[in-house]
Amino acid sequence: MTTLPVDQTQIPFDHKQTRRDFLYVLTGCVGAVGAAATVVPLLSQMEPDQATLAAGGPVDLDLSKVQPGQQVVVRWRGRPVFVINRSPAALKTLQDEKLLSQLADAGSEQLQQADYAKNWHRSIKPEYGVYVGICTHLGCIPMYYPDPSASVPTSDWLGGYFCPCHGSKYDLAARVFRGVPAPYNLPVPPYHFPSDGVVRIGTNPPDSNFDFSSINQL
Ligand code: FES
Repeated sequence: MTTLPVDQTQIPFDHKQTRRDFLYVLTGCVGAVGAAATVVPLLSQMEPDQATLAAGGPVDLDLSKVQPGQQVVVRWRGRPVFVINRSPAALKTLQDEKLLSQLADAGSEQLQQADYAKNWHRSIKPEYGVYVGICTHLGCIPMYYPDPSASVPTSDWLGGYFCPCHGSKYDLAARVFRGVPAPYNLPVPPYHFPSDGVVRIGTNPPDSNFDFSSINQL
């Protein structure tokens, strides 16, 4: 496994770009996709690789790389996938009525995930969240702000993702807020845990046949 440090992903967005244009740029970010995760700062990987795009196999991530409160970004099928390790405090916040009342789809009614992630934490294990990191508005990559702190993008920030392109907000279960441009929660890719210390992105748990192409919006 090749592992490089990454603590944030930011891709400059040209507001004249269409969603299609932006996604084309984004898919140009991919490198190797295969049996092991490659964790990279996306800006450093801008060369298109059509063979890799076509491969699309599952990606394994060693969860020891993701300490509580941290996020690691891996690539799967040319897309950034956020893997986060939520702290107990973050899990408590995800159930806070003050937060829930601000969300557009708190119950994950829209088809943006498999049934195994249709719950309050939108994941298989509450502590680990796995989300496709592409804003459902026009395809920017949301930024990770896990903590309510002084350096947050908006007031009353409870922790989550902020999309700098047009201001969409998501919580730490990637549920979108009401009143922002993005219409849907971030998608959950197929994934499961082949062992306690590894998450495999790209394949469902053995008892699921979830079809990722059936989601509403990527
Ligand atoms: S792309 Fe417009 S808010 Fe994210």
